[in-house]
Formats: sequence, C-alpha cells, structure tokens
Amino acid sequence: PVQHLADYRPWPFLLSETRLDLTLAARGTIVRAALDLAPRDPDAPSDLVLDGGAGLQLRALTIDGQAPDPAHVTRDDERLTIAAAALPRAPFTLETEVAIDPEDNTAFEGLYLSGGIFCTQCEAEGFRHITFYPDRPDVMTVFRVTLRSDLPVLLSNGNPVSDAGGVAEWHDHWPKPSYLFALVAGDLVAVSDRFTTRSGREIALNVWVRPGDQDRAGFAMESLIKSMRWDEDVYGREYDLDVFNIVAVDDFNMGAMENKGLNIFNSKLVLASPDTATDTDYERIEAVIAHEYFHNWTGNRITCRDWFQLCLKEGLTVFRDQQFTSDLRSAAVKRIEDVQTLRALQFREDQGPLAHPPRPDRYEEINNFYTATVYEKGAEVIGMLKRLVGDAAYARALDLYFARHDGDAATIEDWLKVFEDATGRDLTHFKRWYTDAGTPVLEMAEDWQDGILTLTFAQSTKPTPGQPDKPARVIPIAVGLIGPDGDEVAPTRVLEMTEARQTFTFEALGARPVVSALRGFSAPVMLTRQLDDATRAFLLAHDTDPFARWEAGRELALSALTRGDEAAQAYIDAIGALLGDEAADPAFRALCLTLPGEEEIATRLAAQGSTPDPDAIHAARGDLARRIALAHQDLLTGLYDAMTVPGAYSPDAASAARRSLRIAVLGLLARIDGGERAQILFGVASNMTERMAALAVLVRLGRAGPALKVLEAEFGDNRLVMDKWFAVQVMAAPPGRAVAVARDLATRRDFDWKNPNRFRALLGGLAGNHAGFHAADGAGYDFTADWLIRMDAANPQIAARMSTAFETWPRYNPDRRARARAALERIAALEGLSRNTREMVSRMIAAG
Ligand code: ARG
Ligand code: ZN
Repeated sequence: PVQHLADYRPWPFLLSETRLDLTLAARGTIVRAALDLAPRDPDAPSDLVLDGGAGLQLRALTIDGQAPDPAHVTRDDERLTIAAAALPRAPFTLETEVAIDPEDNTAFEGLYLSGGIFCTQCEAEGFRHITFYPDRPDVMTVFRVTLRSDLPVLLSNGNPVSDAGGVAEWHDHWPKPSYLFALVAGDLVAVSDRFTTRSGREIALNVWVRPGDQDRAGFAMESLIKSMRWDEDVYGREYDLDVFNIVAVDDFNMGAMENKGLNIFNSKLVLASPDTATDTDYERIEAVIAHEYFHNWTGNRITCRDWFQLCLKEGLTVFRDQQFTSDLRSAAVKRIEDVQTLRALQFREDQGPLAHPPRPDRYEEINNFYTATVYEKGAEVIGMLKRLVGDAAYARALDLYFARHDGDAATIEDWLKVFEDATGRDLTHFKRWYTDAGTPVLEMAEDWQDGILTLTFAQSTKPTPGQPDKPARVIPIAVGLIGPDGDEVAPTRVLEMTEARQTFTFEALGARPVVSALRGFSAPVMLTRQLDDATRAFLLAHDTDPFARWEAGRELALSALTRGDEAAQAYIDAIGALLGDEAADPAFRALCLTLPGEEEIATRLAAQGSTPDPDAIHAARGDLARRIALAHQDLLTGLYDAMTVPGAYSPDAASAARRSLRIAVLGLLARIDGGERAQILFGVASNMTERMAALAVLVRLGRAGPALKVLEAEFGDNRLVMDKWFAVQVMAAPPGRAVAVARDLATRRDFDWKNPNRFRALLGGLAGNHAGFHAADGAGYDFTADWLIRMDAANPQIAARMSTAFETWPRYNPDRRARARAALERIAALEGLSRNTREMVSRMIAAG
C-alpha cells in the first residue's frame, strides 16, 4: 500500500506514559508493555489500532486489568485493532505481553542479537517488531523501562534509576516517539569520561565496546566531547540527561542511530587505531559521532510529524555535522569533499529512475527513502537558505526554531515559517527545493561591453518520475570576478535568480574579468558555460574561491577525458603548475590531482547526451593518469618524498592532508613504476592509510597476492580490516577480473554475508568497480542479482539498498540495458520478495 503525505491525520488517542518490562532471551524474550491512553475526543469514539505484525506472539492483553471480549480484538499481518466498543471513554491503561525471538532476527530491525549483544534498531518502523504500539513519530511520550537479564551491562534511554541483580531500570523524562527507543544488553566494557555543560551540569560519558576493543574507542570519545562543546558554542545547545552512552555493534544496517541518550553505532564508525583505520575512517567517525549527537536537538527534542518530513531532521543534522567538520578541519577541503559525494550519489539518484524530492509525498517503504536526496540534498537546501538570508538571520531563525518547536513533531512548513518570521521573507517559491525532484541545469552566458559585464543565466530541469513539469526555482548564485593579472576585482556577490532566465550586470570594470561562478557550490545545480581550456587553467591557478578553483581543474580533467588530446595537454600543463604551488594546502592539491572517477565520467557523458562505454572510460582514465605521471615524473617523485609524515601517526587534519597528497602521487607514479613504490610502502608503512592505498595500487596492477596474504595473517580476526581486504580486491580489480574475484571471495568461509558490512564490502565493492559491474557479458548484473535475491530473504533493507547498483541502467547501450533489465525482472518475479526490494526494483524497471 502506498502512503501519501496528504493523508496525514493525528492519532485519535493521547499517550501519557509507556512502561516496558523486558525479560531478555535469545528465544522467547518476554515484552510487557503498559500504555496510559486516553481518547483524544471522547465524543468521537475511535478504534484503537496498534502496529505490530505476525512476529509478535500475543500472550496477554488487558484494558484497565480486564481482558476485552475477544470479538472486539482483531489482528492482521501488520496490526492489532481493538474496537471502539471495547474502550473506555476516559483515560485507561492498555497492557500487553508478547514473546519475540531476537535470535531469528536477521533483518536487524527491532530487537536482535549481534555477536551475543542484544540491541535494537527502531527507526523508522522497528519498534512494532518489539511490541504492539502506535509506531509513528508524532506519538511522543515518557518511557520507563525495566530490563531483566544475566548479562552484565543493561542500557536503555534516559537516566539510570537502579541496577541490581540482573534487573536495571531506566527513566527517560523527555517525551519521545518509539523510533528513538533503544536497549542494549551484553558483556561490554566502557571507555568513560565526563563533560561539564556550560550551565555547570556534569554528564557521564561512555563508549561501550566488546572487551579487548577499549584501546580503539578513545578517538570516538574525543569526538563526542568536541561535538558537545561545538553544539554549545555554535548553536547554543546543551545536553539534557545525566548520561550519554554510545554502543558499538558489528551488525548494523546503517551507520549509526541517535536513540535518546543511547546512540548505537556500526562498529566501523567507532573503533579506530592507526594500524586498523585510515584517515578517512577517522574523519568519518568524528563526523558521524557529531551527527548522532547533534540529533539530540535536531531530531529528538524536535522530531518529525511523519516520515515524509525525514529531511527536516536529516538534512539539518547533516548540515550541522558538515559545519562542525569545516570548523575543526579545512573548510575548503570539506566543501569539495561534500560536493564530490553529492554528485556521486545524489546527482546520480536525481538523474535516474529513483529520483524523488527531499520531501517525498508518497512511499511504499520508508526505509527506501534514507537516501542521498533526503540527507545530502536536504543539507544543501539549508545551505542555500543560509546563504540567501545571511549568517545572522540564520542564527536568529534557528533560535526561534528551537524556542518555538521544542517538544514538537514538526514539518517542513514549520521550519520554513520560522525563517519567514525571523526575516520577513516569503519562502513560498523557495519551498520548491523541498517538493520538486531533479537537478537543475544552469546555463551561464557572458557579454562584455563598455566596462559592463552582463551575465545571463537560464535554468531548466528535466522531468523526473511523477513530475513532468519543472517550474523555475530560486537559485543563489555566488559570483566573484578575477582580473586579468589574477587578482580578485569583485568579491563574492550572491545573485538571487528566481526566473527561468535572468540577467545581472557588473559595472565600472576596467578590463574584462574572468568570472568565478557558483562559488562554494552555492546551489546544487549543474552549471554549464562556454569556457576555453586556457581560461579554466587560469581559474585553476588564480581563483580566490577554493571550491571554484578546484572546479576549474575538474572541468579541465573532464574535458581532457571526454574530448581527447589537445584538452589533455592543457590539463597536464595546468596540473604541473598546481603541483609546484607550495602555498596550496596539500589536501587541496590532492583533490585537484585525483582524476574524476569512472562513474563521474560516465555521468558527464550521459548528461551530454552520449552513451557511456565503461571499458573505453576505464582505458581513457588510465591513459591520462599515465600521461600526467610521465610529464611530471620529477615533480611527483619530489612530492612523494616531501609529503612523508615524520613521527608517530596522528589522525589530525594537517598530517592527513600530507598523506592524502602522498597517496594521490603514489597512484600516478604507479602508472609508470610498475608498482615498485607501492610494494615498498606496503612493507614499511605502520599506518592503515598508506597500507591500504598501496594495496589498492597493487591490486590494480595484479600483483597484490603477497600483500593480501600478509594482511590476512595479521588481521584475519579483525572484522573491520577484513572488510577492507574484501572490498579492495573487488573494487580495484582490473574490470575484466572483477566478477571472477567477487565470485571467488564469496565462497570463503569468512564471507559472512549476513553481516551488512561484509556484504557491502563485496557487493558494494563490485558496484564501485564501474567497468566491472557493467561488464559487457552481464556477469556483474547476474552475480549482483543472485545475491540480492539471497539477501532479500534475510535482510530486506540491505538488499533494497544494494539494488541501487542498478539505478543508472537506462543510460547504457541496448545490449547492457537488455541484460540489466533481465536481471531486474528476475528479481521482480520472485515470490515473497520484500516490500523494500519490490518497491525499488519496480521503480527502476518502470523507467526503462
Ligand atoms: N537516523 C539515523 C541517522 O541518520 C539513520 C537510521 C536509519 N535507519 C534505517 N533503518 N532506516 O543518523
Ligand atoms: Zn541522521
């Protein structure tokens, strides 16, 4: 059944308290729930409909202590209904007792076991697998939880009340919806610290891990403390309970979850040591710890009215974690990384069959909408809003949001109204960013006459599924001007475009400047302009806006890769100049030096109307890298040595920046040194960043055998390292070998495919090998489809998410299209396919 935004109705009951009592067991966990309810309108009696499916074995049900007439109680696959006739007109208590089997829960939704640890994942609709409940985010209440188990550590939300003899009680006095409920029980140890809030409250902090992992949890704790301080300093938000617990588990469908006072994390986003985690891992851990912590205000204290509003909390919280990383590390580098992610995931989604607006208005399975559009584009929309109203007005609007909506289940309309009230602006037109799917193409043309520069912009957006017409949007276009000698002659000005076509002028200019457009990537659009390679090279050398400067290099690289020889020479020359620019941040130089990925090149070609040929793209990219290496061999060799980081490993941004440049250089030099340097580096490096980079090079060159053995011998029992070990072999494999390698790895005893990280390592690794996944004989499609079918029976969320490997299928040649379609149809034809995967596959097939 399709859910529609327009069908929203408040729940017809009020819930003032929920009491849960769980006796934990791998089989036959007993859940007793007491719900203090009252009809919202006693004069309009309503049936009491509670979510909860066949997995709940109902053992008892009473209303104010009395069992209702069984004729008034009905159940189907998804809910339990008590007829209005059986309900009091006044407040009453509903008590239920159910039995559930966490051990059988391979979907990792609701209560499940991960390596002997009981844990929960309730967002979006997991709580209904634990007990019968109004499992919707606008029903918020206070929870009291009793946990019974012999396991030593028993955790739930809120503050601890008591813990003795296998019974622990928790009280969360902050009203919350069921999706924020959590419990954890297990043999765990904590890395502990304290935090004093700016109003002087003492908070006990714990990061809980399995015994033996304590020495890899320190960085997560440091990140938590930085996050707490930052949210106080920048947003004025203080923490609001006496304890904050984080738990790491190995089986987790997503990255992490912001349960009130008890965040549960995929262990790969908590555990880090120099010998097991890369710089990228460290940066992600810091960002995700912050993200989940920031949800305490943007998500928990103010939650969502319904799941259509998901981007209200996710877009805002992503935006906040991006700001946090910019403040702690390099803002320029962070912005470029975020744009790369947006283009790789969100633009891809927006241009294909799965395109949807940041606030969808229909869905079948909400778990299919935890997407790059909801998260990353949701954050971009907030960035545009901030740019349009200015920093001071943004801060005022946020203060008003927290003051007005604390304790609410809010909507995008509420969010925009706060900005309207704080600034006096009308945001009706701007709201299209939330309701309309698709990435606008923004065309820029220049005219120069008598010292006046005229910029003409035209915007257009292609139709997306269900949205044939695309009216113009409000687009903030940040523009600066660079004079012929390389100085900035006009600082950044934000042009506010509201029409389909619009003109802006810059007057009193001495000489014709070069336009630095869409600075800071001020809007999530595809900018096209007629620009020769020499001017792009000029911008790469001189632009004062780091994003626009990097973008100029990116455009040069794409032009080199898609237009051939002459363009390639311009790019190679420009890169030489940049390599020698010692004033530029090494991380920035690394970003400029890394060629666009094959997927990105394919996307560019498709946007230009041609059919991407994966093998040709792979060859062209390799060839360009080789030419760069040959042309700049000496410079690169010098840099490789100069970027060595002396002393003990530290994950700080400056050290990571030098390593990132060194690694980018290694990748280029490997095109001409046969992998010698990588071989040496793998042997001598003591940190995982350089070892993994070296290993990827060796895999690409087909000479990684010994290194893979070494790593396996050293880390065979470390899941997180072995995930990387699986992934790199498939992802970096020569495309013709990728499917065979994946097939072979899938037969290993340690290919524990039910573990989401391990499954993603292998299947995600293949999807990330562009020419490998799109192998002309369809082997990549078939292999992936086989595994999606198998996974769907165990874990629908993971299968549905991985099915997005196919989302670009309509852009390839007829032969590939036919093979991809056949694979998708084979999945669709399956009896008993989950709602998750069925929705995804049918949306993808419909677009062909
Ligand atoms: N709210 C979590 C986060 O972004 C994501 C959890 C979503 N889980 C899911 N199964 N859909 O921080
Ligand atoms: Zn989130």
